[in-house]
Amino acid sequence: MTTDLIPTLTGNYYRDPEVLEREFERIFFRSWVLAGREEQLPEVGDYFTFELGPESVLVVRGRDGALRAFYNVCRHRGARLCAAREGRFEGAIRCRYHAWSYALDGALRAVPQPPDADKFPKDSLALYPVAVETWEGFVFLRLDPDGEALLDQLGALPERARPFPLASLRVGARAERTVAANWKILVENYMECYHCPGVHPELTDLVPLYRTGTVDASGSEPPEYREGACTSTLDGTTQRPIFAGLRDRPRQQYHAELVLPNLLLYLFPDYVCARSLWPVSPTRTRIVSEWLFEPDTQARSDFDASDAVDFMNLLGEQDWQVCEAVQQGVVSRAHRHGVMLPQESEVADVTRWYLAQFEAE
Ligand code: FES
Ligand SMILES: [Fe+2]
Repeated sequence: MTTDLIPTLTGNYYRDPEVLEREFERIFFRSWVLAGREEQLPEVGDYFTFELGPESVLVVRGRDGALRAFYNVCRHRGARLCAAREGRFEGAIRCRYHAWSYALDGALRAVPQPPDADKFPKDSLALYPVAVETWEGFVFLRLDPDGEALLDQLGALPERARPFPLASLRVGARAERTVAANWKILVENYMECYHCPGVHPELTDLVPLYRTGTVDASGSEPPEYREGACTSTLDGTTQRPIFAGLRDRPRQQYHAELVLPNLLLYLFPDYVCARSLWPVSPTRTRIVSEWLFEPDTQARSDFDASDAVDFMNLLGEQDWQVCEAVQQGVVSRAHRHGVMLPQESEVADVTRWYLAQFEAE
């Protein structure tokens, strides 16, 4: 008797520009994707711009306090409205080309020298809207106007994240890195721990379950740290207090979530790391990592984020090296497709999800 092995995606999925173009349309523009934190926009008029593949989006705090998002495109002749990464609009969003200006809610407000001011169709020339919703301080965008609500896409995550004070956390460290691998190779790698014994000695020392090369089946409890360890740092200890909602646990857990398509969310006992994957080309991915901590903890004179940052960067580098090796191999003319073992079933789940989106009309 032979074991049935599930095939991986074929090599062309990791290399063709047409595949990536279609992924933007079918997956990235139709999904809620993480764009930032609400704390970045505390005041009326505060904005940041956000790049998603070929698109640029402007996220603004309006006069009513609500967040709104627009394509970063002027309705006159299409100039990119805003070049800066972040800032504050003083009252209006003004295009530098011919000085059309828009209110913070996207309405076209003023056009210099309109041909016939009374009949000018201002109302039909508002900025193109992008959907924006927040969850626990995280700002998500969806370029397509129609689709499910953010909470529907997040599924069971809000319930599982309930013990964590996510809304009150603040970003304490940030890192960007570009790796030479298709974004899906990084997601697939995240979904299995078959590679953990060989690739992550420090992680398997911290989380004994991972020595077996398996991850817990989805829906069950995350694995526990070894005795004497309570968080994801090199020695498993920390000066930071454990989040109040977790303190009565007999043993702390290594809790990592995936929000498809591209958010890896690590919910650790004293810090959170949000790591998102952005395709730059079919063979390159930009990884943005943000470490979040409690404001009180960050205000302490002995606050130091480096143990959290170093540990996540160590795990990341270990993963990214093997992901780059996969990228090099899957484009070989010899490689039709790979195969997945039963302990890689969550990779197979993601592949099924991916194909359903990719092939949807
Ligand atoms: S393109 Fe913006 S005002 Fe002309
Ligand atoms: Fe890994």
